[in-house]
Amino acid sequence: MPPNESPHLPSGLTRREFVQTTAAAGLMMTIPALAQEPPKNTDDLKVAIIGPGSQGRLLMTMALKIPGIRFVAVCDIWPYHQRYARNILKKYGHQAAVYTDYRELLAKEHDLDAVIVATPDWMHVEHATACLKAGKHVYCEKEVSNTIEKAAELVKVARQTGKLCQVGHQRRSQPRYWHSLKMIEKDKVCGRITHVYGQWNRTRALERGWPKKHPLDAETLKRFGYGSMEELRNWRWYRKYSGGPIADLGSHQLDIFNWFLKTPPRAVLASGGLDYYTQVPGRNWYDNIETVYEWQTAAGVVRGMYQVLNTTSMGGFYEQFMGDEGTLVISDDGKTGYVVREVTAKRREWEDEADKIEKMGRDAIELKIGETLTPEGKKDPKAQKLLEASKKDSRLLHLENFFRAIREGTPLSCPPDVAFETTVTVLRANEAVESGCKVKFKPEEFTV
Ligand SMILES: NC(=O)c1ccc[n+]([C@@H]2O[C@H](COP(=O)([O-])OP(=O)(O)OC[C@H]3O[C@@H](n4cnc5c(N)ncnc54)[C@H](O)[C@@H]3O)[C@@H](O)[C@H]2O)c1
Repeated sequence: MPPNESPHLPSGLTRREFVQTTAAAGLMMTIPALAQEPPKNTDDLKVAIIGPGSQGRLLMTMALKIPGIRFVAVCDIWPYHQRYARNILKKYGHQAAVYTDYRELLAKEHDLDAVIVATPDWMHVEHATACLKAGKHVYCEKEVSNTIEKAAELVKVARQTGKLCQVGHQRRSQPRYWHSLKMIEKDKVCGRITHVYGQWNRTRALERGWPKKHPLDAETLKRFGYGSMEELRNWRWYRKYSGGPIADLGSHQLDIFNWFLKTPPRAVLASGGLDYYTQVPGRNWYDNIETVYEWQTAAGVVRGMYQVLNTTSMGGFYEQFMGDEGTLVISDDGKTGYVVREVTAKRREWEDEADKIEKMGRDAIELKIGETLTPEGKKDPKAQKLLEASKKDSRLLHLENFFRAIREGTPLSCPPDVAFETTVTVLRANEAVESGCKVKFKPEEFTV
Protein backbone atom coordinates (compact mmCIF):
# COMPACT_ATOMS: atom_id res chain seq x y z
CA MET A 1 0.00 0.00 0.00
CA PRO A 2 1.45 3.41 -0.88
CA PRO A 3 2.44 5.18 2.34
CA ASN A 4 -0.02 8.03 1.88
CA GLU A 5 -2.87 5.54 1.77
CA SER A 6 -2.01 4.02 5.13
CA PRO A 7 -5.19 3.65 7.19
CA HIS A 8 -3.30 5.22 10.11
CA LEU A 9 -2.38 8.37 8.23
CA PRO A 10 -4.90 11.21 8.43
CA SER A 11 -5.51 12.75 5.03
CA GLY A 12 -3.40 15.74 4.13
CA LEU A 13 -0.26 14.52 5.88
CA THR A 14 2.74 13.85 3.66
CA ARG A 15 5.07 10.98 4.23
CA ARG A 16 8.66 10.55 3.07
CA GLU A 17 10.64 7.34 3.44
CA PHE A 18 14.26 7.07 4.42
CA VAL A 19 14.64 3.34 4.62
CA GLN A 20 18.32 3.46 3.74
CA THR A 21 18.54 7.01 5.06
CA THR A 22 17.42 10.10 3.25
CA ALA A 23 19.20 12.53 1.08
CA ALA A 24 20.81 15.34 2.99
CA ALA A 25 24.01 17.24 2.67
CA GLY A 26 25.82 17.60 5.98
CA LEU A 27 25.17 14.09 7.19
CA MET A 28 28.80 13.11 6.71
CA MET A 29 29.73 15.75 9.25
CA THR A 30 27.45 14.35 11.93
CA ILE A 31 28.62 10.76 12.08
CA PRO A 32 31.78 10.19 14.12
CA ALA A 33 34.07 7.33 13.22
CA LEU A 34 31.51 5.14 11.60
CA ALA A 35 31.98 3.05 8.55
CA GLN A 36 32.23 5.71 5.86
CA GLU A 37 35.95 5.20 5.25
CA PRO A 38 37.82 1.88 5.15
CA PRO A 39 39.96 1.33 8.28
CA LYS A 40 43.52 2.63 7.97
CA ASN A 41 44.92 -0.20 10.02
CA THR A 42 44.01 -3.87 9.81
CA ASP A 43 46.77 -5.37 11.96
CA ASP A 44 45.82 -8.61 13.63
CA LEU A 45 43.93 -8.22 16.88
CA LYS A 46 43.73 -11.28 19.15
CA VAL A 47 40.24 -11.69 20.49
CA ALA A 48 38.46 -14.01 22.97
CA ILE A 49 34.77 -14.47 23.59
CA ILE A 50 33.14 -15.21 26.93
CA GLY A 51 29.62 -16.62 26.55
CA PRO A 52 29.24 -17.74 22.92
CA GLY A 53 25.49 -18.41 23.22
CA SER A 54 23.12 -17.17 20.53
CA GLN A 55 24.15 -13.48 20.64
CA GLY A 56 27.81 -14.32 21.27
CA ARG A 57 28.00 -16.57 18.21
CA LEU A 58 26.29 -13.91 16.12
CA LEU A 59 28.84 -11.32 17.23
CA MET A 60 31.61 -13.83 16.58
CA THR A 61 30.50 -14.54 13.02
CA MET A 62 30.14 -10.82 12.36
CA ALA A 63 33.57 -10.05 13.81
CA LEU A 64 35.00 -12.72 11.50
CA LYS A 65 34.05 -10.45 8.58
CA ILE A 66 36.30 -7.68 9.88
CA PRO A 67 39.83 -7.80 8.46
CA GLY A 68 42.53 -8.75 10.96
CA ILE A 69 40.28 -10.09 13.73
CA ARG A 70 41.68 -13.35 15.04
CA PHE A 71 39.83 -15.40 17.66
CA VAL A 72 42.25 -17.22 19.93
CA ALA A 73 40.01 -18.36 22.80
CA VAL A 74 36.43 -19.13 23.74
CA CYS A 75 35.07 -19.44 27.26
CA ASP A 76 31.72 -20.90 28.24
CA ILE A 77 30.60 -22.95 31.21
CA TRP A 78 28.56 -25.25 28.93
CA PRO A 79 30.67 -27.72 26.88
CA TYR A 80 27.94 -27.87 24.23
CA HIS A 81 28.38 -24.17 23.48
CA GLN A 82 32.17 -24.43 23.79
CA ARG A 83 32.21 -27.02 21.00
CA TYR A 84 29.65 -25.12 18.93
CA ALA A 85 31.76 -21.93 18.99
CA ARG A 86 35.09 -23.69 18.54
CA ASN A 87 33.75 -25.55 15.48
CA ILE A 88 32.51 -22.34 13.84
CA LEU A 89 35.93 -20.78 14.36
CA LYS A 90 37.66 -23.87 12.99
CA LYS A 91 35.71 -23.52 9.74
CA TYR A 92 37.17 -20.02 9.38
CA GLY A 93 40.68 -21.30 10.13
CA HIS A 94 40.87 -19.91 13.68
CA GLN A 95 42.30 -22.32 16.27
CA ALA A 96 40.76 -21.26 19.56
CA ALA A 97 41.73 -22.53 23.02
CA VAL A 98 38.69 -23.51 25.09
CA TYR A 99 38.05 -22.49 28.71
CA THR A 100 35.28 -23.05 31.22
CA ASP A 101 36.28 -20.37 33.71
CA TYR A 102 37.15 -16.82 32.59
CA ARG A 103 39.81 -16.59 35.31
CA GLU A 104 41.77 -19.38 33.67
CA LEU A 105 41.35 -17.71 30.28
CA LEU A 106 42.80 -14.45 31.58
CA ALA A 107 45.60 -16.23 33.45
CA LYS A 108 46.77 -18.05 30.31
CA GLU A 109 45.97 -15.77 27.36
CA HIS A 110 48.41 -12.95 27.99
CA ASP A 111 48.50 -11.71 24.39
CA LEU A 112 44.81 -10.95 24.06
CA ASP A 113 43.90 -7.51 22.74
CA ALA A 114 40.16 -7.66 23.31
CA VAL A 115 37.38 -9.75 24.80
CA ILE A 116 33.74 -9.94 23.75
CA VAL A 117 31.46 -10.55 26.76
CA ALA A 118 28.07 -12.05 25.82
CA THR A 119 27.11 -13.88 28.99
CA PRO A 120 23.73 -13.36 30.73
CA ASP A 121 23.33 -9.83 32.13
CA TRP A 122 24.10 -10.63 35.78
CA MET A 123 27.66 -11.73 34.89
CA HIS A 124 28.59 -8.85 32.55
CA VAL A 125 30.23 -6.63 35.11
CA GLU A 126 32.24 -9.41 36.77
CA HIS A 127 33.51 -10.58 33.39
CA ALA A 128 34.06 -7.17 31.80
CA THR A 129 35.84 -5.63 34.81
CA ALA A 130 38.15 -8.65 35.16
CA CYS A 131 39.12 -8.30 31.50
CA LEU A 132 39.66 -4.53 31.78
CA LYS A 133 41.81 -5.03 34.88
CA ALA A 134 43.83 -7.62 32.95
CA GLY A 135 44.57 -4.90 30.37
CA LYS A 136 42.13 -6.03 27.66
CA HIS A 137 39.65 -3.91 25.72
CA VAL A 138 36.08 -5.13 26.11
CA TYR A 139 32.95 -5.31 23.98
CA CYS A 140 30.24 -5.96 26.59
CA GLU A 141 26.70 -6.86 25.66
CA LYS A 142 23.80 -4.86 27.02
CA GLU A 143 22.15 -4.63 29.46
CA VAL A 144 25.27 -3.67 31.40
CA SER A 145 23.79 -5.27 34.50
CA ASN A 146 20.64 -6.18 36.35
CA THR A 147 21.61 -3.81 39.20
CA ILE A 148 22.53 -0.13 39.12
CA GLU A 149 25.36 -0.68 41.62
CA LYS A 150 27.10 -3.21 39.39
CA ALA A 151 26.66 -1.01 36.31
CA ALA A 152 28.37 1.84 38.18
CA GLU A 153 31.28 -0.48 38.91
CA LEU A 154 31.90 -0.97 35.17
CA VAL A 155 32.08 2.79 34.62
CA LYS A 156 34.62 3.15 37.44
CA VAL A 157 36.83 0.28 36.30
CA ALA A 158 36.81 1.40 32.68
CA ARG A 159 37.89 4.84 33.87
CA GLN A 160 40.60 3.51 36.20
CA THR A 161 42.12 1.12 33.67
CA GLY A 162 41.88 3.45 30.66
CA LYS A 163 40.92 0.48 28.51
CA LEU A 164 38.11 0.73 25.99
CA CYS A 165 34.69 -0.69 26.74
CA GLN A 166 31.94 -0.68 24.15
CA VAL A 167 28.45 -1.60 25.36
CA GLY A 168 26.14 -3.42 22.92
CA HIS A 169 23.58 -0.70 22.14
CA GLN A 170 24.36 -1.14 18.46
CA ARG A 171 21.87 1.42 17.11
CA ARG A 172 24.40 4.03 18.14
CA SER A 173 26.69 2.86 15.31
CA GLN A 174 23.99 2.78 12.63
CA PRO A 175 24.06 5.68 10.12
CA ARG A 176 20.27 5.58 9.82
CA TYR A 177 20.00 6.58 13.48
CA TRP A 178 22.61 9.33 13.10
CA HIS A 179 20.74 10.52 10.08
CA SER A 180 17.42 10.58 11.96
CA LEU A 181 19.05 12.68 14.66
CA LYS A 182 20.35 15.06 12.03
CA MET A 183 16.89 15.33 10.48
CA ILE A 184 15.40 16.12 13.88
CA GLU A 185 18.05 18.61 14.92
CA LYS A 186 19.08 20.32 11.69
CA ASP A 187 16.20 19.78 9.27
CA LYS A 188 13.62 20.12 12.07
CA VAL A 189 11.40 17.50 10.46
CA CYS A 190 9.38 17.19 13.67
CA GLY A 191 9.51 20.83 14.70
CA ARG A 192 9.41 20.91 18.49
CA ILE A 193 9.18 17.36 19.84
CA THR A 194 6.46 17.03 22.44
CA HIS A 195 5.96 13.25 22.61
CA VAL A 196 7.73 10.00 21.83
CA TYR A 197 6.42 6.47 21.52
CA GLY A 198 8.22 3.15 21.34
CA GLN A 199 7.41 -0.53 21.47
CA TRP A 200 8.81 -4.00 21.13
CA ASN A 201 5.88 -6.31 20.43
CA ARG A 202 6.21 -9.99 19.57
CA THR A 203 4.03 -13.06 19.87
CA ARG A 204 6.38 -15.18 21.94
CA ALA A 205 8.31 -14.78 25.09
CA LEU A 206 11.80 -16.13 24.43
CA GLU A 207 11.52 -19.78 25.48
CA ARG A 208 14.56 -21.99 25.23
CA GLY A 209 15.12 -25.69 25.56
CA TRP A 210 18.39 -27.60 25.25
CA PRO A 211 19.52 -30.86 23.65
CA LYS A 212 18.62 -33.46 26.26
CA LYS A 213 21.78 -35.43 25.47
CA HIS A 214 23.93 -32.44 26.36
CA PRO A 215 22.85 -30.93 29.66
CA LEU A 216 25.36 -29.16 31.86
CA ASP A 217 25.97 -31.27 34.98
CA ALA A 218 24.35 -30.13 38.24
CA GLU A 219 27.67 -29.50 39.99
CA THR A 220 28.96 -27.11 37.31
CA LEU A 221 25.60 -25.33 37.17
CA LYS A 222 25.77 -24.81 40.93
CA ARG A 223 29.42 -23.70 40.84
CA PHE A 224 28.52 -20.92 38.39
CA GLY A 225 25.37 -19.86 40.24
CA TYR A 226 22.55 -21.48 38.22
CA GLY A 227 19.82 -23.57 39.89
CA SER A 228 19.03 -25.71 36.82
CA MET A 229 19.32 -26.00 33.03
CA GLU A 230 15.98 -24.17 32.82
CA GLU A 231 17.57 -21.21 34.61
CA LEU A 232 20.74 -21.28 32.49
CA ARG A 233 18.76 -21.32 29.26
CA ASN A 234 15.86 -19.07 30.27
CA TRP A 235 17.82 -16.65 32.44
CA ARG A 236 15.82 -13.69 31.05
CA TRP A 237 12.81 -14.83 33.07
CA TYR A 238 14.61 -14.63 36.43
CA ARG A 239 15.35 -11.51 38.49
CA LYS A 240 18.58 -13.04 39.73
CA TYR A 241 20.03 -13.01 36.19
CA SER A 242 18.20 -10.27 34.26
CA GLY A 243 16.62 -6.83 34.56
CA GLY A 244 13.40 -8.05 32.89
CA PRO A 245 11.89 -7.11 29.52
CA ILE A 246 12.39 -3.36 29.98
CA ALA A 247 16.13 -4.01 30.31
CA ASP A 248 16.33 -6.78 27.73
CA LEU A 249 14.46 -5.05 24.90
CA GLY A 250 13.45 -1.64 26.17
CA SER A 251 17.02 -0.57 26.90
CA HIS A 252 17.84 -0.39 23.17
CA GLN A 253 14.97 1.98 22.49
CA LEU A 254 14.96 4.06 25.67
CA ASP A 255 18.64 4.60 24.93
CA ILE A 256 17.56 6.21 21.63
CA PHE A 257 15.08 8.49 23.38
CA ASN A 258 17.73 9.66 25.87
CA TRP A 259 20.23 10.13 23.07
CA PHE A 260 17.97 12.10 20.72
CA LEU A 261 16.36 14.17 23.48
CA LYS A 262 19.83 14.94 24.87
CA THR A 263 18.83 14.19 28.44
CA PRO A 264 17.86 11.24 30.61
CA PRO A 265 14.26 11.20 31.90
CA ARG A 266 13.00 13.08 34.94
CA ALA A 267 10.25 10.56 35.88
CA VAL A 268 8.59 7.25 35.02
CA LEU A 269 5.25 5.57 35.74
CA ALA A 270 4.82 1.88 34.88
CA SER A 271 2.59 -1.15 35.02
CA GLY A 272 3.59 -4.74 34.26
CA GLY A 273 3.07 -8.33 35.25
CA LEU A 274 3.56 -12.02 34.58
CA ASP A 275 0.06 -12.48 33.25
CA TYR A 276 0.11 -14.88 30.32
CA TYR A 277 3.21 -17.12 30.31
CA THR A 278 2.57 -18.57 33.74
CA GLN A 279 3.24 -22.25 33.04
CA VAL A 280 6.78 -22.55 34.43
CA PRO A 281 6.95 -22.30 38.21
CA GLY A 282 9.71 -20.11 39.64
CA ARG A 283 9.95 -17.63 36.76
CA ASN A 284 9.52 -14.17 38.17
CA TRP A 285 9.92 -11.51 35.49
CA TYR A 286 7.02 -9.75 33.78
CA ASP A 287 5.92 -10.90 30.36
CA ASN A 288 4.56 -7.41 29.61
CA ILE A 289 5.34 -3.90 30.75
CA GLU A 290 3.90 -0.50 29.85
CA THR A 291 5.60 2.72 30.87
CA VAL A 292 5.16 6.48 30.68
CA TYR A 293 8.37 8.51 30.84
CA GLU A 294 8.90 12.26 31.09
CA TRP A 295 11.92 14.19 29.86
CA GLN A 296 12.68 17.83 30.63
CA THR A 297 14.44 18.89 27.42
CA ALA A 298 15.86 22.29 26.53
CA ALA A 299 12.78 22.92 24.36
CA GLY A 300 10.24 21.84 26.97
CA VAL A 301 8.64 18.72 28.45
CA VAL A 302 8.48 15.55 26.36
CA ARG A 303 6.27 12.65 27.45
CA GLY A 304 6.57 9.17 26.03
CA MET A 305 4.89 5.80 26.21
CA TYR A 306 7.01 2.68 25.85
CA GLN A 307 5.93 -0.95 26.01
CA VAL A 308 7.17 -4.53 25.65
CA LEU A 309 4.43 -7.07 24.86
CA ASN A 310 5.00 -10.78 24.31
CA THR A 311 1.45 -11.72 23.31
CA THR A 312 1.02 -9.64 20.15
CA SER A 313 3.46 -8.74 17.40
CA MET A 314 1.33 -5.80 16.24
CA GLY A 315 3.60 -3.07 14.93
CA GLY A 316 6.84 -4.93 15.75
CA PHE A 317 9.55 -2.70 17.18
CA TYR A 318 10.26 0.95 16.43
CA GLU A 319 10.77 4.38 17.93
CA GLN A 320 8.60 7.40 17.09
CA PHE A 321 9.30 11.12 17.66
CA MET A 322 6.24 13.37 17.47
CA GLY A 323 6.39 17.14 17.21
CA ASP A 324 4.30 20.13 16.23
CA GLU A 325 5.51 19.93 12.58
CA GLY A 326 5.79 16.23 12.00
CA THR A 327 6.66 12.72 13.16
CA LEU A 328 9.77 10.65 12.53
CA VAL A 329 9.61 6.86 12.81
CA ILE A 330 12.72 4.71 12.86
CA SER A 331 13.50 1.06 13.59
CA ASP A 332 16.59 -1.09 13.58
CA ASP A 333 14.66 -3.63 11.51
CA GLY A 334 16.31 -2.03 8.43
CA LYS A 335 12.93 -1.51 6.74
CA THR A 336 11.23 1.21 8.75
CA GLY A 337 12.18 4.85 8.49
CA TYR A 338 9.92 7.70 7.49
CA VAL A 339 8.83 11.20 8.25
CA VAL A 340 5.25 12.40 8.25
CA ARG A 341 4.74 16.17 7.95
CA GLU A 342 1.74 18.01 9.35
CA VAL A 343 -0.26 19.91 6.73
CA THR A 344 0.01 22.99 8.89
CA ALA A 345 3.83 22.81 9.07
CA LYS A 346 5.79 25.55 7.34
CA ARG A 347 7.87 24.40 4.41
CA ARG A 348 11.46 23.50 5.28
CA GLU A 349 14.55 23.63 3.05
CA TRP A 350 15.11 19.85 2.85
CA GLU A 351 11.72 19.46 1.16
CA ASP A 352 13.02 21.25 -1.94
CA GLU A 353 15.56 18.49 -2.53
CA ALA A 354 12.83 15.88 -2.24
CA ASP A 355 10.81 17.70 -4.88
CA LYS A 356 13.88 18.01 -7.13
CA ILE A 357 14.35 14.25 -7.09
CA GLU A 358 10.68 13.73 -7.80
CA LYS A 359 10.84 16.00 -10.85
CA MET A 360 13.72 13.88 -12.18
CA GLY A 361 11.31 10.97 -12.33
CA ARG A 362 12.48 9.24 -9.18
CA ASP A 363 10.24 8.21 -6.35
CA ALA A 364 10.45 11.15 -3.98
CA ILE A 365 9.27 9.13 -1.01
CA GLU A 366 12.29 6.84 -1.42
CA LEU A 367 15.03 9.35 -0.79
CA LYS A 368 18.27 7.53 -0.31
CA ILE A 369 21.66 8.74 0.75
CA GLY A 370 23.22 7.22 -2.34
CA GLU A 371 20.90 9.30 -4.45
CA THR A 372 21.82 12.54 -2.80
CA LEU A 373 22.70 15.07 -5.46
CA THR A 374 25.68 17.36 -5.34
CA PRO A 375 24.96 21.03 -6.15
CA GLU A 376 25.98 20.20 -9.75
CA GLY A 377 23.22 17.60 -9.92
CA LYS A 378 25.60 14.62 -9.71
CA LYS A 379 25.51 11.74 -7.25
CA ASP A 380 27.61 12.33 -4.14
CA PRO A 381 30.25 9.55 -3.96
CA LYS A 382 30.74 9.94 -0.18
CA ALA A 383 27.03 9.56 0.35
CA GLN A 384 27.14 6.33 -1.62
CA LYS A 385 29.62 4.89 0.92
CA LEU A 386 27.35 5.87 3.76
CA LEU A 387 24.39 4.27 2.03
CA GLU A 388 26.38 1.04 1.80
CA ALA A 389 27.26 1.29 5.51
CA SER A 390 23.63 1.88 6.49
CA LYS A 391 22.70 -1.43 4.83
CA LYS A 392 24.99 -3.36 7.18
CA ASP A 393 23.69 -5.01 10.31
CA SER A 394 24.01 -2.57 13.23
CA ARG A 395 25.89 -5.16 15.28
CA LEU A 396 28.58 -5.42 12.64
CA LEU A 397 28.86 -1.63 12.51
CA HIS A 398 29.11 -1.52 16.30
CA LEU A 399 31.92 -4.10 16.30
CA GLU A 400 33.68 -2.18 13.52
CA ASN A 401 33.43 0.98 15.62
CA PHE A 402 34.96 -0.91 18.59
CA PHE A 403 37.89 -2.41 16.69
CA ARG A 404 38.55 0.85 14.89
CA ALA A 405 38.69 2.61 18.27
CA ILE A 406 41.33 0.11 19.43
CA ARG A 407 43.42 0.50 16.29
CA GLU A 408 43.01 4.18 15.51
CA GLY A 409 41.90 5.83 18.74
CA THR A 410 38.57 6.98 17.27
CA PRO A 411 35.63 7.50 19.67
CA LEU A 412 33.42 4.63 20.79
CA SER A 413 29.72 4.86 19.96
CA CYS A 414 28.60 3.53 23.35
CA PRO A 415 31.06 3.81 26.24
CA PRO A 416 30.02 2.66 29.76
CA ASP A 417 28.95 6.07 31.08
CA VAL A 418 26.43 6.38 28.23
CA ALA A 419 25.18 2.85 28.88
CA PHE A 420 24.97 3.60 32.61
CA GLU A 421 22.42 6.33 31.91
CA THR A 422 20.31 3.77 30.05
CA THR A 423 20.66 1.22 32.84
CA VAL A 424 19.31 3.67 35.41
CA THR A 425 16.52 4.65 32.99
CA VAL A 426 15.29 1.08 32.54
CA LEU A 427 15.90 -0.53 35.92
CA ARG A 428 14.05 2.17 37.82
CA ALA A 429 10.95 1.53 35.69
CA ASN A 430 10.76 -1.84 37.46
CA GLU A 431 10.70 0.05 40.73
CA ALA A 432 7.75 2.06 39.40
CA VAL A 433 5.87 -1.18 38.65
CA GLU A 434 6.56 -2.56 42.12
CA SER A 435 5.53 0.57 43.98
CA GLY A 436 2.66 1.61 41.72
CA CYS A 437 3.98 5.16 42.12
CA LYS A 438 5.72 7.67 39.89
CA VAL A 439 9.50 7.33 40.22
CA LYS A 440 11.32 10.65 40.03
CA PHE A 441 14.93 10.70 38.89
CA LYS A 442 17.55 13.07 40.23
CA PRO A 443 20.02 14.30 37.58
CA GLU A 444 22.98 13.07 39.66
CA GLU A 445 21.67 9.47 39.55
CA PHE A 446 22.77 9.23 35.94
CA THR A 447 26.44 9.87 36.53
CA VAL A 448 29.10 7.86 38.35
N1 LIG B 1 22.66 -6.31 21.42
C1 LIG B 1 21.64 -7.08 21.11
O1 LIG B 1 20.84 -6.80 20.23
C2 LIG B 1 21.43 -8.37 21.87
C3 LIG B 1 20.59 -9.35 21.35
C4 LIG B 1 20.46 -10.54 22.08
C5 LIG B 1 21.14 -10.71 23.28
N2 LIG B 1 21.93 -9.71 23.76
C6 LIG B 1 22.66 -9.85 25.02
O2 LIG B 1 23.65 -10.86 24.86
C7 LIG B 1 23.84 -11.58 26.07
C8 LIG B 1 23.66 -13.07 25.83
O3 LIG B 1 22.33 -13.30 25.40
P1 LIG B 1 21.98 -14.67 24.65
O4 LIG B 1 20.60 -14.57 24.17
O5 LIG B 1 23.06 -15.02 23.70
O6 LIG B 1 22.04 -15.71 25.89
P2 LIG B 1 22.49 -17.22 25.81
O7 LIG B 1 21.94 -17.86 27.03
O8 LIG B 1 22.15 -17.80 24.48
O9 LIG B 1 24.07 -17.15 25.90
C9 LIG B 1 24.78 -16.93 27.08
C10 LIG B 1 25.99 -17.84 27.11
O10 LIG B 1 26.75 -17.57 28.27
C11 LIG B 1 27.14 -18.80 28.88
N3 LIG B 1 27.40 -18.53 30.29
C12 LIG B 1 26.51 -18.34 31.30
N4 LIG B 1 27.18 -18.04 32.44
C13 LIG B 1 28.50 -18.06 32.15
C14 LIG B 1 29.68 -17.84 32.91
N5 LIG B 1 29.63 -17.54 34.21
N6 LIG B 1 30.87 -17.94 32.27
C15 LIG B 1 30.94 -18.23 30.94
N7 LIG B 1 29.86 -18.48 30.19
C16 LIG B 1 28.64 -18.37 30.78
C17 LIG B 1 25.96 -19.74 28.60
O11 LIG B 1 26.32 -21.09 28.71
C18 LIG B 1 25.62 -19.32 27.17
O12 LIG B 1 26.40 -20.03 26.24
C19 LIG B 1 22.82 -10.99 27.05
O13 LIG B 1 23.43 -10.03 27.84
C20 LIG B 1 21.78 -10.34 26.15
O14 LIG B 1 21.13 -9.26 26.78
C21 LIG B 1 22.10 -8.55 23.07
